[in-house]
Amino acid sequence: EKGGFEHFMLKEIYDQPRCMADCMRGRLLLNEKRIVLSTINMHRERLMKAERFIIVACGTSWHAGLIGKQLIEQWANIPVEVEYASEFRYRNPVISPDDVVIAISQSGETADTLAAFQLAKENKAMCFGIVNVVGSSIARASDTGIYIHVGPEIGVASTKAFTGQVTVLTLFALALGHERGTISKEEYESTIEELGNIPEKIKSVLAKDEEIKDIARSLTYAENALYMGRGFNYPVALEGALKLKEISYIHAEGYPAAEMKHGPIALIDENMPVVFVATHHQLYKKIISNIEEVKARNGRIIAVVTEGDEAVKEIAEATIEVPSTLASLAPLLSAIPLQLIAYHVAVEKGLNVDQPRNLAKSVTVE
Ligand code: M6R
Repeated sequence: EKGGFEHFMLKEIYDQPRCMADCMRGRLLLNEKRIVLSTINMHRERLMKAERFIIVACGTSWHAGLIGKQLIEQWANIPVEVEYASEFRYRNPVISPDDVVIAISQSGETADTLAAFQLAKENKAMCFGIVNVVGSSIARASDTGIYIHVGPEIGVASTKAFTGQVTVLTLFALALGHERGTISKEEYESTIEELGNIPEKIKSVLAKDEEIKDIARSLTYAENALYMGRGFNYPVALEGALKLKEISYIHAEGYPAAEMKHGPIALIDENMPVVFVATHHQLYKKIISNIEEVKARNGRIIAVVTEGDEAVKEIAEATIEVPSTLASLAPLLSAIPLQLIAYHVAVEKGLNVDQPRNLAKSVTVE
């Protein structure tokens, strides 16, 4: 069952290249350079007239939602709001029948996410599920949706479900943009082609595991850590921090890097590790100046960078290289080293990786 791995979490991290391929099978047609999603074929009219998407989710699924927002807005030009399901359901949110409410949930059983969905239904919005567990409560409450098809996830810390959710959101945003004519043919096709390369590129990140383990060791005795990213890598920073908190019991916060100067920078001294997700994209130069600000205050810098990076390497204590890819697909690669860091720190500390204290795999209580 653990396939020779010591923990389910590690197995699930290593499963990601295969899971992504499963998730894209029959949906990403590489030879024809197009995406086929049955939900779009069946609900074209309704989805085309959507005036707004509201994503409701919790935890890691909420982080995937933040990436989905950027993708849908960029390619399909439809406004997207991302809400914590637990907050959304207890307000009086404005929901109109032209809204599409997307619930993202690995288990399909998270009580708050289900309740947010029910509220959407009462207000006659379309309920769109992005779920892993087939036949789960959220799947059943959906009018339509897309399964992520990554297989059972046992480790409490979500890993392959996150990359599966991001993959599905990518396919959906691309297909929607194509239908609406809001994405250029060139960008649509080049992104499809690059998506086909991602499983292999994830493998090459996994091949760096020993190196990542050594770097993770330096975090074992940390009491706090900050994670910073920008653009598509900002939600990845949040996700990296959540992984470290939940299984390694180290207090960690994720921030969009430019927010640092609005408060968190006061925390930086020689005892504060700061993990930067600084791959080679449009905000690369900006993030370098954020890294320099940390360096100037003696913070310890660990950075996820693009292969061949030179500038960050000069400043950081340690770097982890990931293959180059499109900015929009960066999270699918940059999330992997952060999952491995949290895993190795937890193992080094002798903690129960698959079942961390105080946590349940699906949160069916409010
Ligand atoms: O099953 P769900 O995706 O609805 O679960 C949501 C969260 O409870 C879940 O992502 C949680 O944050 C994970 N333990 C994160 O690793």
